[in-house]
Amino acid sequence: MTPYYETDRAVSEYLLFHYGAPHEVLPYPDGPTSALDYPLRCVSHFADEIGYSSRMRALDLGCAVGRSTFELARFCGEVIGIDYSDRFIASADRLRVEGHIAYSYLDHGELTQEGIAKIDVAIDRNRVRFEQGDAMFLRDGLGTFDVLLMANLIDRLVDPVKCLQSLAAIINPGGFVILTSPYTWLEEYTPREHWLGGQQVAGNAISTTAALGNVMASDFDLVRQDDLPFLIREHVRKFQWSVAQGTLWKRK
Ligand SMILES: C[S@@+](CC[C@H](N)C(=O)[O-])C[C@H]1O[C@@H](n2cnc3c(N)ncnc32)[C@H](O)[C@@H]1O
Repeated sequence: MTPYYETDRAVSEYLLFHYGAPHEVLPYPDGPTSALDYPLRCVSHFADEIGYSSRMRALDLGCAVGRSTFELARFCGEVIGIDYSDRFIASADRLRVEGHIAYSYLDHGELTQEGIAKIDVAIDRNRVRFEQGDAMFLRDGLGTFDVLLMANLIDRLVDPVKCLQSLAAIINPGGFVILTSPYTWLEEYTPREHWLGGQQVAGNAISTTAALGNVMASDFDLVRQDDLPFLIREHVRKFQWSVAQGTLWKRK
């Protein structure tokens, strides 16, 4: 079976999630508008603490179709977006080269609507590079970074702790990790023995917030923690409204 993030459905769902105008994503005035523009908010929410500058190098791990990667490039001089999905990276890279792509997204049933994903002309696309890769086995030679974004990634990894423990080696002292996730642990992606919290251990309920703190504590200080809602449109009358926890970590 084709992995979900390689399917036509996922590509169009994520192009809409990342680049859709508010009225395309949520055509209901009473809907949860504060959950729109999540890929942009993942970058901007902690901007005051990070103090972005053009001297910074940034990495967007699990970048999908790339909106946060481009948003990081508003501020940072060099940004790399890495995702496991070839289809997502192909779309992100076309956006880098062409600045826009046309796509269809689901209305309902077999009906679709037409959209155009566009990169703001104020963003220098030459600052951005996309590569297919595995967050748990990053290739040699990527260098080190001042900002790392991992948005909605850890609960899609086979071994999130292994990935988190490898971060210290690629983040410069004083650099930042923005970690956002709704902590939706599923055996489909992460074997139960590798879940980061969200479990009873020896009769004690261990939250992901607590387990994450334990894993990060050796190399990072927690700077700030907030709820970040997001909305993924499945079709015109069906949505996933979720609340990620956003945590900002500073490398010791
Ligand atoms: C829930 S999506 C989140 C995408 C994006 N960061 C966002 O917030 O919209 C999870 C992403 O992680 C990617 N992914 C899953 N496992 C990965 C891995 N081992 N290495 C890199 N990317 C991975 C998927 O292809 C998908 O794009």
